[in-house]
Amino acid sequence: FLTLAAVSGLAVACGGDPDSPGAVTLDFANPLRVPTLLHPKPGKDGVRRFELSMQAGQSRLLPGKQTATWGFNGTFLGPTLRASRGDKVQMAVRNQLPEASTVHWHGMRLPARMDGGPHQPIEPGAVWEPHWTIDQPAATSWYHPHPHGSTAQHVYRGLAGMFILDDDREVDLPSTYGVDDFPLILQDKKFTAEGAFDGDPLKGTFGILGDHILVNGTFNPHLKITTERVRFRVLNGSNARMYNVGFADGRRFHVIGNDGGLLAAPVEVDRFSLTPGERAEIVVAFAPGERVVLRTFDNGVDIGKGDFDLLLFAADPRLKPAPAVPSNLTPPSPINVPPGAKVRRFKLNGHDAINGKGMDMSRIDEVVPANSVEIWEIENNVYSHNFHIHEVAFRILDVAGGKPPSYATGSKDTVYVPSKSRVRLAVQFGGYTDPTSPYMYHCHILRHEDSGMMGQFVLVQPGT
Ligand code: C2O
Ligand code: CU
Repeated sequence: FLTLAAVSGLAVACGGDPDSPGAVTLDFANPLRVPTLLHPKPGKDGVRRFELSMQAGQSRLLPGKQTATWGFNGTFLGPTLRASRGDKVQMAVRNQLPEASTVHWHGMRLPARMDGGPHQPIEPGAVWEPHWTIDQPAATSWYHPHPHGSTAQHVYRGLAGMFILDDDREVDLPSTYGVDDFPLILQDKKFTAEGAFDGDPLKGTFGILGDHILVNGTFNPHLKITTERVRFRVLNGSNARMYNVGFADGRRFHVIGNDGGLLAAPVEVDRFSLTPGERAEIVVAFAPGERVVLRTFDNGVDIGKGDFDLLLFAADPRLKPAPAVPSNLTPPSPINVPPGAKVRRFKLNGHDAINGKGMDMSRIDEVVPANSVEIWEIENNVYSHNFHIHEVAFRILDVAGGKPPSYATGSKDTVYVPSKSRVRLAVQFGGYTDPTSPYMYHCHILRHEDSGMMGQFVLVQPGT
């Protein structure tokens, strides 16, 4: 098999690409970390029990240096949780940090009290035990802290993990975790000379735009590929940076899923973009023995500047066969906008308000009938933002009056809102009514969310 020297030697040989001056070329010395899978067997009562412990520690991210970090069940990031549609899940989240935090299940459709937003704080030493039944299609979702005003800091220190949902609709896709199905959690960081995380996630227009991109918490990573095709679940877990992901050799690949599940059919692309909080599932074909670099490309956008190498893939000289990408996947259930559907308009102001109001945890901004479909229009007049709505699934109707990219036509919960434009969404709300327990909507650039670009809605019985 490949030695590290062979991997880095070849990577250096493919560096210095004359077509992309300024590209940061790495030596890809470190094997990509793959977060542990937590997939507990259901108990006699049919409940899957997950235990998460939020802790502080030291991680060796840079060669020869220690970084003070936070993590779940470890010192950086957290395990990948896995459950299936229909499962009852019971969480036990223990806070061993020196301050209160929360854990939000981003992309999960569940009652507001289980959501882990700013209204469900976990004090130091306490255990929070939300439970719900998974009732949504197979998807790549994730979890992260959401304490109002401290989300940016808690996520930047390392608290985040992936949450894979399965269902029983059969599609022949690579799905063996850590073999032909890998999470790729992209996070940009700044480091001091001593190796500490640098930068203030609440300063400047965007907080952190780091110059080193960790993948699953790995600095300069490579991954050995053993099958002809591999599925990657790509999560932008960054505070502010937007990625415009493709390959150094320009190869094409398939996007098969968005935030909330699979697309109706694979979409062939050479690039796709993700803003913070967004996910995409992709399938990439590899030739035996080849090496290719995954890269993010400067797209001229304020939060998407710079070319950065992300990860070197080093394919084994003998690859195990893998099925072709099916031409049809599993279409997301349609969102039918009824005639006269309610339209709500949201203006993103500066970096700290929506419709002229900063976040107020005691104010309910919107009251939405359960199970309804509404049109939400998000308008942006200055720099880049994005918009995430808890609990829902939405489809992007249009972006600045045009069609959304074809790879982003599936089920979404987070959307890029380019500067000086309007995005319209068809939003399907769920059925967990609770007039006193709000869900959040907000910009997922964490500096903006923490500064107040966030609002609250409740779901109520229609007609109340
Ligand atoms: Cu990923 Cu309200 O957050
Ligand atoms: Cu924003």
